[in-house]
Amino acid sequence: MQAFQFQNPTKLMFGTGQIAKLKEELAPYQRVLLVYGGGSIKRNGLYDQVSAILHDMKLEVVELAGVEPNPRLHTVHEGVKLCREHDIDFILAVGGGSVIDCVKAIAAGAKYEGDPWDFMTHRAAPKAALPLGTILTIAATGSEMNGGSVITNWETKEKLGWGSPHVYPQFSILDAEYTKSLPKDQTVYGMVDIMSHVFEGYFHHDADTSIQDGWMESILKAVIETAPKLVQDLENTKLRETILLSGTLALNGMTTMGVRGDWATHNIEHAVSAVYDIPHGGGLAILFPNWMKHVLKENPARFKQLAVNVFGVDASGLTDEEAGRAGIEALRTFWKAIGAPSRLADYDIDDSKLEEMADKCMKFGAFGGFKKLERADVLAIYRASL
Ligand code: NZQ
Ligand code: ZN
Repeated sequence: MQAFQFQNPTKLMFGTGQIAKLKEELAPYQRVLLVYGGGSIKRNGLYDQVSAILHDMKLEVVELAGVEPNPRLHTVHEGVKLCREHDIDFILAVGGGSVIDCVKAIAAGAKYEGDPWDFMTHRAAPKAALPLGTILTIAATGSEMNGGSVITNWETKEKLGWGSPHVYPQFSILDAEYTKSLPKDQTVYGMVDIMSHVFEGYFHHDADTSIQDGWMESILKAVIETAPKLVQDLENTKLRETILLSGTLALNGMTTMGVRGDWATHNIEHAVSAVYDIPHGGGLAILFPNWMKHVLKENPARFKQLAVNVFGVDASGLTDEEAGRAGIEALRTFWKAIGAPSRLADYDIDDSKLEEMADKCMKFGAFGGFKKLERADVLAIYRASL
């Protein structure tokens, strides 16, 4: 494995009733920006719970509501403005990855003179950020315990990821009760995203990674075992907890210590979301198996390991490539069975904008740690996904 440095400063508070600790976490602050999405937290009662605590503490609270799924740059601008106007000293994100990602950009943007879009386009890196915390309502992105964020500029139709050590949440409260109101489709998208994060880390060319492999395979197996039960029993707290923890561990940096993963498929998906505004997990369900087929020959033994250890493929008598292919088919079948989309046509996407999306993918040049993809590779993966 490669040399690495690992530091994750986020305090994770996991389990029923952990919201009681919010008071202690917010004690040092006076003026809080409360950020949330389109209203799910009002419908499931979480907004009332949080508001009561903030009110009890006599904090000055400013609200930013309506963060979009695939959060938009203009909402980041709005948040930065509120932080400056009200001299905010803490930002609380209550919601999913979109709310948290938006808050990260606001937190860094509030300490930056220029446009926060500079972070996403790599024109500037944050040097500081306001402190932030999260109360998570959907198991999916891992944003609750990482320094990453993805923002969409709807004017230029670009969706770009960025990251900074300054925007790790100080704390994240993970109570599965809050995820029970999540409808089936969003639950499925979240689980696809979690598995995809593991795949992005799993496909690398580093040797001697049995510890990391074991962690990653164990997360995948937990999701595969739990997902079919959860889609039939959406209010089951125990199943929700397993998925919640899987989501955080899949992308908090732990499982990829010392390895260089791929991350091409996320880039390819973000370009689709940038143009068609589809859910991230839905796009990944369509694209990942096709990326896998496209790069299988790079290291068939790695695909065979996934097929055998995670999907229980019987590889006796099969070449590595055949076993790997069987694993990819097993993944496709599994995602279909839990209700994930499998073709771009499921979102009414035809071949009219494939070139435009491929151009967006190439913004920073060829990409992908497992196999470097050029424009022609991207187009081939899109075509196979139609
Ligand atoms: O806006 P509200 O009303 O809250 O509704 C949301 C939204 O419509 C709803 N929802 C969330 N929790 C709910 C709920 N509905 C009922 N009950 C609940 N408990 O679910 C919808 C989707 O929410 P969103 O936050 O968009 O989902 P997710 O967590 O999957 O975040 C997706 C965004 O994160 C980015 C994606 O690209 C996308 O923009 N990603 C961020 C990453 C990171 N920061 O590390 C990594 C990921 O790979 C990903 O790219
Ligand atoms: Zn993702």
